[in-house]
Amino acid sequence: MPLIKTPEEIEKLKRGGAILSRVLRLAADQCRAGVSTEALEKMVRQEFEKVGGRPSFLGYQTSSKDAPYSGALCVSVNDEIVHGLSLPSRIIQDGDVVGLDLGLWYEGLATDMATTVMAGKVKPDVRALVEHTREALEQALLAVKEGAGVADIGAAIEDYIKPFKYGIVKDLTGHGVGHAVHEEPHIPNYREPRAPRVRLEAGMVLAIEPMITLGTWKIQVKQDGWTIVTADGSPAAHFELTVVVTKTGYELITPWP
Ligand code: MF3
Ligand code: CO
Repeated sequence: MPLIKTPEEIEKLKRGGAILSRVLRLAADQCRAGVSTEALEKMVRQEFEKVGGRPSFLGYQTSSKDAPYSGALCVSVNDEIVHGLSLPSRIIQDGDVVGLDLGLWYEGLATDMATTVMAGKVKPDVRALVEHTREALEQALLAVKEGAGVADIGAAIEDYIKPFKYGIVKDLTGHGVGHAVHEEPHIPNYREPRAPRVRLEAGMVLAIEPMITLGTWKIQVKQDGWTIVTADGSPAAHFELTVVVTKTGYELITPWP
């Protein structure tokens, strides 16, 4: 499948992206202390069903020998960076930072986005981490335009994040999206001299997703085989948008939630 989407595909992606953003906003609004993560999962599935969309993470496999992901919504709490699971027994607590990551198949095309919610009274240093991670995504978007390099995206994130001495997760990246949940190119969130030099072209659709921690960049996978946590137990934040590259910059496929 070509990485450049047609104008018609971009229109479809934008319709899907608008739905995805609306449903992620609903999940974020409902993500409060005392709410079960399973309730959020049920809500997003219902919303997708209403509009004839399909959750793109449900049943997703990294490789054929791995267990499929069991939900529509990734719910990643505190030291969980991404791919956390919603379970009836998992209740949001006051002070939690909760990553909500959601993907949608709509009109045959996939969109992807994430936000981090602060439930109740979150410690100031963690609050700052969340705000700076959101801003890192804004900075990354400013690096997007035809002719720029994929590497400029990671460089923008690293340059913005470095003074805060946070960890930038290296083992997970942003990615192309549209015909599949994950497409080329890989988009590192840091300066990676070994990364292949890929030029951005108008019509490429990218999911850009900085994952930043209050401690180390190193990750571990939990016993459940999916949940990615920080190796040192420090809290993490994650924001993600799907955008299309244009001649002069980018357009949002998924509006900010
Ligand atoms: N937004 C997540 C990512 O790009 C989606 C992961 S798919 C899952 O990595 F099914 F594993 F959750
Ligand atoms: Co993604």
